[in-house]
Amino acid sequence: MDKIRIRGGRPLKGQIRISGAKNAALPLMAACLLTDETLTLSNLPHLADITTLANLLVQHGVDLHMNGATDGGHTGRVLEMTARDITSTRAPYDLVRKMRASVLVLGPLLARFGEAQVSLPGGCAIGTRPVDLHLTALELLGAEIEIKEGYIYAKAPNGLHGAEITFSKVSVGATENLLMAACLAKGTTRLMNSAREPEITDLAECLVKMGAKIEGIGSDTLVVEGVERLGGADHSVVPDRIEAGTYAIAAAITNGELELLGARTEHLGAVIEILTKAGVEVTETDEGLRVRRLNGELTGVDVMTEPFPGFPTDLQAQTMALMSAADGAAMITESIFENRFMHVPELTRMGANVNVHGASAMVRGQKKLTGAEVMATDLRASVSLVLAGLAAEGETMLNRVYHLDRGYERVEEKLAACGADIERIKGP
Ligand code: UD1
Repeated sequence: MDKIRIRGGRPLKGQIRISGAKNAALPLMAACLLTDETLTLSNLPHLADITTLANLLVQHGVDLHMNGATDGGHTGRVLEMTARDITSTRAPYDLVRKMRASVLVLGPLLARFGEAQVSLPGGCAIGTRPVDLHLTALELLGAEIEIKEGYIYAKAPNGLHGAEITFSKVSVGATENLLMAACLAKGTTRLMNSAREPEITDLAECLVKMGAKIEGIGSDTLVVEGVERLGGADHSVVPDRIEAGTYAIAAAITNGELELLGARTEHLGAVIEILTKAGVEVTETDEGLRVRRLNGELTGVDVMTEPFPGFPTDLQAQTMALMSAADGAAMITESIFENRFMHVPELTRMGANVNVHGASAMVRGQKKLTGAEVMATDLRASVSLVLAGLAAEGETMLNRVYHLDRGYERVEEKLAACGADIERIKGP
């Protein structure tokens, strides 16, 4: 297994090109199942999760072509997907268990073929993560759903029909699944208390290019007028706001200065507000955002994760690393997932002072973090350890790098190009 070695203490300087968003690319790929024409996605990131979903789509019978890179051999790949001859509507356990987002094939398969069998994803390191909201809402569209032998068996022999749906909790995945299904349902569907993440807006815009009729894009009420069929489209994946936020924190924690090419203010409002309060200057440039400390000091700031436009849970661990190196205390409250403090014991091994009380963590900033051998438990936790390692004195060795590879494209190359002393040590 690969490891990453970091020798900390170097300020990062330079430019980082932000890749296409993993969390936008995954639902966009699932959307190819809604049509027999070709859906072409560009600016696709090169990540393990994308490969996992591609394998699932191939298993369903999708004809898939990944076209060469356009930049440095890695980024901005183009993926052509044609779901003309679907041979299976079953998403098996061995693929779904690798990545929960596989459940996003449920809505499209059910809407177009009237049936789907999708393995229940199971829990993961950050919590139980049920799919009840997806299933209850699909039932309101007329689906018959049974759970047997660890699988969701969904049927809609007479097709789906429009309905009024109010989600009891804001869910990114449930909103995406229902949005896709509603596009091919008969009549009008209103999705209320929908999630508003930019990745959902990206999906909705692509669906509109495919011929869907959607109103309220970007709001918490999506109104979908079902159509008979959808067609092909070309779509470029939106830049990854979580990757951008992570590198903004990398600039701040190392007391460096980075320009994040492709990063967008409108996707990072709550993050920029927290960084500004912490003493970090974020300014717009022609091509993205420039990030650096204002006067050399970092101040502790309280943070609470919330659905968009609130502060993203996917930046909580990275923010904890930043606050661990700030002057003063910060209370970090996680309101989305019940068990998303797995990075705390590892950050503590690097000298962070963090006490967890239920959904909140009190972080008392330290003058110095120190390098240590640490272990990643999930994707965002692992990158928080990279950030802490960049700021720490001495050497940090990060194990279980495969978590990082699920969501960060060429992280060590991007950081090394800006002056970080970081290298991947290839495992057996
Ligand atoms: C997506 C993101 C993930 C991010 C999360 C929250 C993708 C591929 N993943 O995950 O990176 O951390 O949004 O921004 O886009 N819930 C239920 N029942 C359900 C569905 C969700 O109770 O049927 C709960 C979850 O357990 C969680 C909360 O709702 O507590 C939000 O989850 P959700 O927005 O659905 O997250 P994902 O779509 O899985």
